[in-house]
Amino acid sequence: MNIVILGPGAVGSLWANAFLHAGHSVSLCSRQSAKQLSIQVDQYNAALFANNDKQSIQDADLLLVTVKAPHVITALTPLLPQISPDCMIMLMHNGMGTAEDVIEFLPNNPLLLATTTHGAYRESSQRVLHTGLGTTQLGGYNDKGKQCAFLEEVFQHALPEVKWNHDILHALWHKLAINCAINPLTAIHQVTNGTLAQEEFSLLLSRVIDEVSQILTAEEIRLSKKQLEDSIFKVIELTAKNHSSMQQDVFHRRATEIDFITGYLLHKAKHHNIAATENTALYQQIKQIEQSWNHE
Ligand code: PAF
Repeated sequence: MNIVILGPGAVGSLWANAFLHAGHSVSLCSRQSAKQLSIQVDQYNAALFANNDKQSIQDADLLLVTVKAPHVITALTPLLPQISPDCMIMLMHNGMGTAEDVIEFLPNNPLLLATTTHGAYRESSQRVLHTGLGTTQLGGYNDKGKQCAFLEEVFQHALPEVKWNHDILHALWHKLAINCAINPLTAIHQVTNGTLAQEEFSLLLSRVIDEVSQILTAEEIRLSKKQLEDSIFKVIELTAKNHSSMQQDVFHRRATEIDFITGYLLHKAKHHNIAATENTALYQQIKQIEQSWNHE
């Protein structure tokens, strides 16, 4: 297949390399202006990829978008004239809400969503470390996307484990709920994920989870409060020493994914007339932190 990776950060680079080694023709689209980019994953030989090549975009069978949610539309817009209507578009990032915008720009393309638990760390602009094996779930967003279940085999062959999920929105909501509980709190307090297991966070965390659970119920996502709580504490335990993506964004003073995580949740809460007081407070605190950088 002809595959283009839009946003070769840690996760995008991992997939670029995996697809290349599986025999596909892979090229990249990045903010860098170089015509070719080299990527090395772990101790394997570095591979050279074409970058921002118009012909490769025109020929693409699959465009895998791995930029963070706030950058999806800005990154896709300049490519629109080149993207063929048959090209499958797959969004792979934390948070939700971008598919609704992408479908406006590319109404005829198969649109798919993905979520992955692979751990990857970008050590330098050319070197990526695959820090933890994970599972990737894929699924269709629109009808054409739902007809692309064959991609499970393509992805599985390149970087297992991969599962086709007929209800990918359920998987994305589950991940979003976990992110709503962990990301803002770790970012505001600048702590590791494991710190949230301490007594001082227990009341606040339980209120946040309670609100998230009410919204999931209103959205008809079948996940009990107990199941949600258990999966949140399991992630806290398994990633105890890690810094969440939002903690790192705040630390490095980069725009966070808050609008696509808690912001998306609050948008749905409003729709269902649910007063999500604790999540609103967390959302506002992250927004205030972001705004404070502009006033210094
Ligand atoms: O955003 C993140 O960092 C991750 O999704 C998670 C699950 C919170 C682990 O750090």
